[in-house]
Amino acid sequence: MVHVPVLLEETVARLVTEPGGWYVDGTAGAGGHASALLAAAGLDARLLALDRDGEALALAKDALAPFGDRAILERANFLEMAEVAGRHGLRDIRGVLLDLGVSSMQLDRPERGFSFLRDSPLDMRMDDRQALTAAGLLKRLSQAELADLLRRYGEEPMSRRIAKTVAEALARGELIETTAQLAELVSRAKGGRRGRTHPATQTFQALRIAVNGELAALAAVLPLALGLLAPGGRLAVISFHSLEDRMVKQFMAAHEGRMEALAKGGSRWIGQLPRARRVTRKAVSATEAEIVRNPRARTAKLRVLERMA
Ligand SMILES: C[S@@+](CC[C@H](N)C(=O)[O-])C[C@H]1O[C@@H](n2cnc3c(N)ncnc32)[C@H](O)[C@@H]1O
Repeated sequence: MVHVPVLLEETVARLVTEPGGWYVDGTAGAGGHASALLAAAGLDARLLALDRDGEALALAKDALAPFGDRAILERANFLEMAEVAGRHGLRDIRGVLLDLGVSSMQLDRPERGFSFLRDSPLDMRMDDRQALTAAGLLKRLSQAELADLLRRYGEEPMSRRIAKTVAEALARGELIETTAQLAELVSRAKGGRRGRTHPATQTFQALRIAVNGELAALAAVLPLALGLLAPGGRLAVISFHSLEDRMVKQFMAAHEGRMEALAKGGSRWIGQLPRARRVTRKAVSATEAEIVRNPRARTAKLRVLERMA
C-alpha cells in the first residue's frame, strides 16, 4: 500500500505561511507531504526531499516529478541536511518537515522485516547500506542490555522475561533470524495473546528504534533543523510514540524562553538559542475521521516551532 500522509492539511497550513521560499522534507517517504507543500507554496517555492531509504526515495521521485526542478531529491540521512542543503546552495529555509518513523511501504514489504504479520528475515533497516540488522543486534546484546532496550524503547512491561527467553533460546542454539521466530518466542515468553495488540508489538518497536538509531537521530536533528531556518521559518515534527513526542516537546519548550527584567535595568533572554516561538502550544492530533480513513494516524502528534529573529 502506498503511504497515506498523516495530518496533511494541519501540517501544510502551519508550515506554509507565505508563497515561495525553500523547504526541506527530511523524511520524504512516498512524497505525499512534500508534494502538498510544494503545491501550497506556489511556483516560486523549491523543496529538498531526503530519505535514507532508497525504495522510498524512488517513490518520492515519481510523486514529485510534476514539479520538475522545483524538487531536489537525495538519498541521505536527515542528519546530513545542512551539508546537502549547502551543496545545493539553499539558504533562508522557510520550513523543515520531519515525519518520523516508518512508512506503510516499509511495514508492508515482508522482505524489509519490520512486521510480525508476515514471516521474513529479521532485518528492520531503513537504510540497507547499514550493516546492522535486528537479527544481528539480538546476537550482539547481553540479556541485561536487551531487557533495558525493550523497556526503554518499547515500554515493554515484561522486558526481563522476554530477554531471558531470548537469551536461553540463543544459548540452546535456536535460530532467531526471522520475524516469525522472534514473534513466536516473545508470545511464548508473555504467555500468549491477551487483548487486541499482538504480544510482540512493543518488542518489534524497540528493536526497530535501536537498529535505526531513531532517538539519537531525533535528538541530533532538532537543533540542526532549527539552526537551518531563516527567521520566521518553521520546523514541523510529526511523531508516533511518546518517547519521540516527549523529546520534541521538551526541545520546543526550551527554545521558547522569555525575557527577564534585570534589577540594573534592561532585560535578558532566559532560554536556549536560537530564540523560537511555539506555533502549537498543544500537540495537534488527527481527527476521528482521519483515524477511520488511516488508522496509522491514531498516535500521530504534530508540533511546530517558529524561529525568531
Ligand atoms: C512516516 S515516513 C514519511 C512519509 C512521508 N511524509 C509521505 O508523505 O509519504 C518516514 C520516512 O522517514 C524516513 N526516515 C526515517 N529516519 C530517517 C533519517 N534519519 N534520515 C532520513 N530519512 C529517514 C524513513 O525511511 C521513511 O521513509
